[in-house]
Amino acid sequence: MSDITEQLLDTLATYPGTPDAACMTLPPQAYTDPGLYEIEVETIFKREWLLIGRANDIPDPGDWFTMTILDEPMLIVRGADGAIRAMSNICRHRYMPIALEDRGNAKRFVCAYHGWVYGTDGRLVAAPLMEGSLAFEKKGCALPEYRLEVWQGFIFVNLDDDAPALAPQLHEADAMLAHYSNADHVTGFSYDKIWEGNWKLATENGMEFYHHMGLHAATLEEAMPAKGAWVEPAPESGRFAHTHCSYSAHGSYKEGAMARFIPGEDVFTELEKTSSYAIGLFPNISLAMSVDSNNWLSFIPLGPDRTRVIGGYIVQPGYDAAHPEGAAQRNQLLYDVNEEDAQATWRLQKVLRSTKAAPGPLNVREGTCAQFYKYLGRTLAGDRVPGLQAAE
Ligand code: FES
Ligand SMILES: [Fe+2]
Repeated sequence: MSDITEQLLDTLATYPGTPDAACMTLPPQAYTDPGLYEIEVETIFKREWLLIGRANDIPDPGDWFTMTILDEPMLIVRGADGAIRAMSNICRHRYMPIALEDRGNAKRFVCAYHGWVYGTDGRLVAAPLMEGSLAFEKKGCALPEYRLEVWQGFIFVNLDDDAPALAPQLHEADAMLAHYSNADHVTGFSYDKIWEGNWKLATENGMEFYHHMGLHAATLEEAMPAKGAWVEPAPESGRFAHTHCSYSAHGSYKEGAMARFIPGEDVFTELEKTSSYAIGLFPNISLAMSVDSNNWLSFIPLGPDRTRVIGGYIVQPGYDAAHPEGAAQRNQLLYDVNEEDAQATWRLQKVLRSTKAAPGPLNVREGTCAQFYKYLGRTLAGDRVPGLQAAE
């Protein structure tokens, strides 16, 4: 391990023992060092549950999409039995990817190389002209599966076959989300782009409202001013950080692109109706909710300085069809906001190798970032955190 990686781990280990309000930004090398990135891949991304899409985007049997996480190409399919599976997108014959497009609907998958045919449950259905092969046995040629769970309508996968189940880890988040109907929402706007920056820059940006007053001055600040943001106490599990931002008193959220719609019975608390609620679900997820919608993003690393960002805006079923103009206006706004965040990520990444780049103090509205750094400290450098072993 390089000296820089060693130093970064030592620094990360100091965060869990530091009060949120005393935390500084991560050192610049934390976003550029290939050694730390390798540790993140092994310790976080090969072990944690990763958000890759929405169940409502593949509603019918045979609906599928592809996704690659690290070096693992996946074919995510809703089977004839209604279950969603994440299967290896590699033919059991001679490795050809089975689905070659991004998404579609299929009764069967036919490999483009030699025509082997798989069912939507991954079983090999047919293999042409294989008579005479002594090694061939149809049953043994099903596509291997990855762990998959659907939580609040979001599809998660895990590269670790032995990972503990996801849902029990998120019961505190479930309680916070009880009134929001994430599971029933449908996609109003989809997002899938590459941001030229480290996944942690994108992730921490997605969990604080303070940057509305700068980066989103022309888009979000009027409706959700940064000064109206505050951080909620960290949950005991340490699985996420959460924050609220009050809508502006001028009520621009009542009309136009930020208009809110109370669906069905009004079960919402005053706080839920008058503020946006954001959860940064560790390691790499941002959920920003209002009573009628959720703007979600998942930051999937492609390397130390590149991130695939997938996400979207989910809404009440039927809402967009009933409000086409509002939906179009909102989609444009969301696209613009994501572009602002993408550009910030890229600008930060470009300067992080400077010898003069140094950590700065966090605003109290960025306590979510402090809690994210603590998660990184516990996860990546737990053996160096004083007292952590004893406490567990
Ligand atoms: S590689 Fe798929 S059929 Fe040969
Ligand atoms: Fe932003």
